[in-house]
Amino acid sequence: MSGQSEPASTVSERHTEPGRRTWPALDGIGYGCDYNPEQWPESTWAEDVALMAEAGVNLVTVGVFSWSKLQPAPGELTAGWLDRVLDLLAAAGIRVDLATATASPPPWLVAAHPEILPVTEDGRRLAFGARQSYCPSAPAFRTAAVDLAERMASRYGSHPAVAMWHIGNEYGCHVPACYCEQSAAAFRRWLEARYREIGRLNEAWGGAVWSQDYTGWGQIEPPRTAPTFGNPAQQLDFARFSSDELLACYRAERDVLAAHSPGTPVTTNFMGLFRPVDQFRWSAELDVVSVDSYPDPADAEAHVASAMAYDLTRSVGGGRPWILMEQAPSAVNWRSVNVPKAPGQYRALSLQAVARGSDAVLSFQWRAAATGAEKFHSGMLPHAGTDSRVWRDVVSLGAGLRRLAPVAGSLVHAEAALLLDWESWWALELDSHPTSRLRQSELIGEFYRPLLHAGVSVDFAHPESDLSGYRLVIVPALYLVTDAGAGNVRRFVEGGGTALVTFFSGIVDPADRVRLGGYPAPWCDLLGLRVEELAPLPEGVAVPLDGLDAAETGAAGRLWQDVIDLAGAAPLLTYAEGHLAGEAAATTHERGRGEVMYLGTLPDRATLGRLVRRACRHAGLELRTDLPRGVEAVRRGDYLFLISHTDRAVELGLGAKRLDLLTGAMVGPTAVLAPRDALVLAP
Ligand code: GLA
Ligand code: GLA
Repeated sequence: MSGQSEPASTVSERHTEPGRRTWPALDGIGYGCDYNPEQWPESTWAEDVALMAEAGVNLVTVGVFSWSKLQPAPGELTAGWLDRVLDLLAAAGIRVDLATATASPPPWLVAAHPEILPVTEDGRRLAFGARQSYCPSAPAFRTAAVDLAERMASRYGSHPAVAMWHIGNEYGCHVPACYCEQSAAAFRRWLEARYREIGRLNEAWGGAVWSQDYTGWGQIEPPRTAPTFGNPAQQLDFARFSSDELLACYRAERDVLAAHSPGTPVTTNFMGLFRPVDQFRWSAELDVVSVDSYPDPADAEAHVASAMAYDLTRSVGGGRPWILMEQAPSAVNWRSVNVPKAPGQYRALSLQAVARGSDAVLSFQWRAAATGAEKFHSGMLPHAGTDSRVWRDVVSLGAGLRRLAPVAGSLVHAEAALLLDWESWWALELDSHPTSRLRQSELIGEFYRPLLHAGVSVDFAHPESDLSGYRLVIVPALYLVTDAGAGNVRRFVEGGGTALVTFFSGIVDPADRVRLGGYPAPWCDLLGLRVEELAPLPEGVAVPLDGLDAAETGAAGRLWQDVIDLAGAAPLLTYAEGHLAGEAAATTHERGRGEVMYLGTLPDRATLGRLVRRACRHAGLELRTDLPRGVEAVRRGDYLFLISHTDRAVELGLGAKRLDLLTGAMVGPTAVLAPRDALVLAP
């Protein structure tokens, strides 16, 4: 039945449509930042360019928030200042990622069209005075943004400095969805295109529940704040719609760029594991995929979060090189406590991006601002000036990146994949579920961490994408699965793959309708079991586990328990206490030429690590067991990156003497890495 609510364009089409994939003409690895010269007197610009040359900057993003400076009133651009900036940069050989400048509408536009201000779920209109103050469905915003993009493209489409175009900024960051009347009208049009007949919508949304059968499209509203839990299928469609509406804003600008600046690549900056925007759907529309990454320096595992975001970015871009569009040279301003990066951390996290497939490393921003909301956000050129640790680190990273030129263009080859589908993520985190403690990105992180520590490269894959290149596929709470996705995982295992599937996977179809017959209905035979009942665990409750030496290690399950009936699978772990004592908590099942493991609980991190390593070994993946905590090993092309994220010196065995690209020196057979230092070993 799920066929009726599948999206009109099938995912396999989306995944085979590569889009234009051009790279901004750069030699080696790009290095740079957001550059906001409009915030500074023109007398500083020559110094900027000279210092950029000193740091080795060769790519800067210009104009992201400069709409009010470029178009202080409707009509003509007042862009003489930008002409001069671009000419200065071109003369210095610095390429520009030029923004269409539409990320934040100016006051005159909002004053003339107050209806473009976004409205929250509970009906509050958000005021002007910050940024991103627009409803993605507002015709007045769309028209004005496309007009500005067209003026920018016709003026600068063939400027020698312009290497690529940057549309919008972090789509959905502050306003992931708008609930105003214009959005309601657009949502109705989107629903009509999806369902055609109101009866089909009622069926998909379960209109029989709580008296919600609609008799006309005009009766439908966005899922605004309601007396109690809103209709989940309505909420899920609104999440799909909201991602599509933002994408429509992007596309409208992209189309005018294509007309006026053909052949120049176009990007927008994603935000890693960010729920509102379906990056698999979006990436087909981008020539180059880019990401902003702000791991918290106060988090001892900041490098795990950033590694995950980088692997995701590479994956949504189809494995091609990508751009780290923004990171902080040191502290940000937007956490409640903004800890600066530790000495060496900016470099280590930048090299991590290159290791994971980035061909450019940019920061936000060039000069730390003197005014405005972001004045305590670090910049490459800090308030303290060039006599500062941050500046010295900036210059030294530039030199290091120049030496990594041979790495540019090479690919990361991963044989393990984590399945991720934004539609499933949206549905998973809806309310009125067995637990509200299950979070998609946290669960993914639980599996990602041991893979990172074992030096196993991992891609993120859409459940309907080609999995044949992988040996191991992990399915972390893939709550919603299409028939095609369910069949794809099955074929992967039957063809000899190893899969690791968790609780709360394969539960509903694309309309959020439960697949009946015991969980996970599409995979019960594949897994050799049937889950009869879902038994989530309250915060702080852990259930002891037996099996796989679990008793000796004090293993315990967290977050969740499935009540499992075995039907061919063998238990790997059992519950040791409670009403499920003796029942299976984790299982394995051979199927076709493959094996599939199932986790009915979330084991503690040590036990989960053992299970993940077991799955890796079973899949025939190469595992490193010699890496000290906090050290990552990543192969990109012929080069092996060894990066320390710890504040202690660590000793590493390299096997033989090897050339380190970063220093040009021979190292090994053992090497001591200073805190947060790295090696990039040539073959
Ligand atoms: C109340 C309502 C029912 C149902 C239950 C669920 O009792 O009257 O319609 O929603 O809660 O617990
Ligand atoms: C985001 C934005 C930037 C800037 C930084 C600060 O990444 O895109 O404009 O505000 O955050 O960290």
